[in-house]
Amino acid sequence: MSLGPFAVAIAVVFLLIGLAYLANSGRGPRPGREVPPNLAPFLTDEDLENKRLNKTLVAALFLSAFLAVALPVYFLTETGRQADFNELYEEEAVHVGENIFQEQSPDNPEGFGCIACHGAEGVGGGADFVDPRTGASVTWAAPSLNDVFYRYDDEEVRFWLIWGRQGSPMPAWGVEAGGPLNDQQLDFVIEYLKSIQIPQEEALAAVDAKVIAELASLAGADASIATAITDQTAELAAVSSAPERLRWAEDLEALLDQVLQGSSSGLDTDLDGLSDDSETEINRISELAFANIGTDATPATTVAANRLILVLDPENPFSTVDETGEPVPDQTAAEGLLAEFGSQILALDPIVANNAGIKATAEETLINLDKAGEARRFAVDFGELAESHFDGNEETAKRAYGLFAANCARCHTAGFSAGWVATFEPGSGAMGPSLRTGRALVQFPDDEDHYEFILKGSVNGQAYGVNGIGRGWMPGFGTVLTEADLRLIVDFERSLR
Ligand code: HEC
Ligand code: HEC
Repeated sequence: MSLGPFAVAIAVVFLLIGLAYLANSGRGPRPGREVPPNLAPFLTDEDLENKRLNKTLVAALFLSAFLAVALPVYFLTETGRQADFNELYEEEAVHVGENIFQEQSPDNPEGFGCIACHGAEGVGGGADFVDPRTGASVTWAAPSLNDVFYRYDDEEVRFWLIWGRQGSPMPAWGVEAGGPLNDQQLDFVIEYLKSIQIPQEEALAAVDAKVIAELASLAGADASIATAITDQTAELAAVSSAPERLRWAEDLEALLDQVLQGSSSGLDTDLDGLSDDSETEINRISELAFANIGTDATPATTVAANRLILVLDPENPFSTVDETGEPVPDQTAAEGLLAEFGSQILALDPIVANNAGIKATAEETLINLDKAGEARRFAVDFGELAESHFDGNEETAKRAYGLFAANCARCHTAGFSAGWVATFEPGSGAMGPSLRTGRALVQFPDDEDHYEFILKGSVNGQAYGVNGIGRGWMPGFGTVLTEADLRLIVDFERSLR
């Protein structure tokens, strides 16, 4: 038998069963059978509108109200998120910038030591510098940075950070100029500098004190040069005596070494391992050393020279104390003296090796300092200045000079930042152009234009005056000096011949 009829037979049987079921189920409820829920009458409205329904509705109302309030509130906090993030980023930037500004240390590996020259929080400071014209070791004044944004805008500050200042101790920091700081690090430093700016009133209030300080400094110029000459004379003496002192150091080092090797034999009253005779001999060596090696001439050896003094007491095993006041065993003290001879030799060796050259340079510097002291190129005749430009009022003339010295001289007077030994005539020209020989009158025939220029400063690529081309290097002073003071400076500059 084939499968076909069999399958048809089964299909027919199922079809019949299905039809029978449908016919039977369509006949409605029958007694004794449970009524299906959808056919049974349900609860009445009275039954349904009970407390439970009310509670549910109240809950729904509250939930909707909550959403109606919470969503906008949530939205409002969302809009500030970007600003908050920016603020957080800025705080972090200031923090990283501050680290860059500080000295490098194991705790602060990202430090680049701006603070060493510009002072804590950028109050200003100085840097060691050898003035190329006199050869004198000087301190080059480093400007305050806690007011730099009153002088320069972001881009101008960034420019100086990248390129530094040629001919001054300010190094180039940007990678573009071969420095170590990338763009982002520069951003951070700039953020930090912004965070330490003093309020404008404070900047304005500082003007008078600066003027007084400049006038006092000028009054002390001769004394300051005299001190430089005294120091240089001592330096020259130290260089000249270096070969002699080196010989003493080497001889006494050998002698002390010998004494220490045989120091255990003989009477040792204080039982410290150094015989009484050795202690006496060490004292004699120390006396010779202090007299012949030590010199107050060069500041660097002053401290060391004091360490050449050693007086041992044969009856006391701890004759000396260290810097903290702790007693030092005599044996250790004697070894310290031996080590001191070693460092003296190390310091003197290079000076002796190039003695003729170093001496000639020191002599030349001394001559230059003498000349600077005689020439007094920095001098200003206030009586004459008052007569010619300030209606005979010497106080006004002094203030005008003081304002120029405090604000302009570092860029417009040669050598001004390097101190009086290096300073030329006011306005003789440095990073900024010379303003002498009536230059300001040529550039600004109308003094109102002169005033306007100092008020705003130069702008990169923008012409000024008769033939000036700004590079944005000249700061504007309108935010830190009053109009009256600016006009005094203008008058002072127009007096420079
Ligand atoms: C070795 C000393 C030294 C160090 C280190 C140094 N500076 Fe300077 N900086 C100077 C001197 C000096 C000047 C002024 C140069 C001049 O007389 O024209 C200056 C000028 C500036 C100026 C221009 C300000 C103006 O008004 O002319 C800025 C900005 C500045 N420094 C920022 C920095 C920052 C930021 C750092 C650290 C990354 C730094 N400096 C490190 C010495 C230093
Ligand atoms: C940070 C250095 C700096 C300081 C500080 C500075 N100047 Fe200048 N000044 C310049 C430079 C640089 C120029 C040339 C313009 C330029 O390069 O942007 C200039 C140009 C000038 C000129 C135009 C000179 C010419 O012949 O073209 C005058 C006038 C002048 N400065 C006056 C002042 C006065 C006044 C002050 C103080 C209140 C002052 N400067 C402070 C750097 C400085």
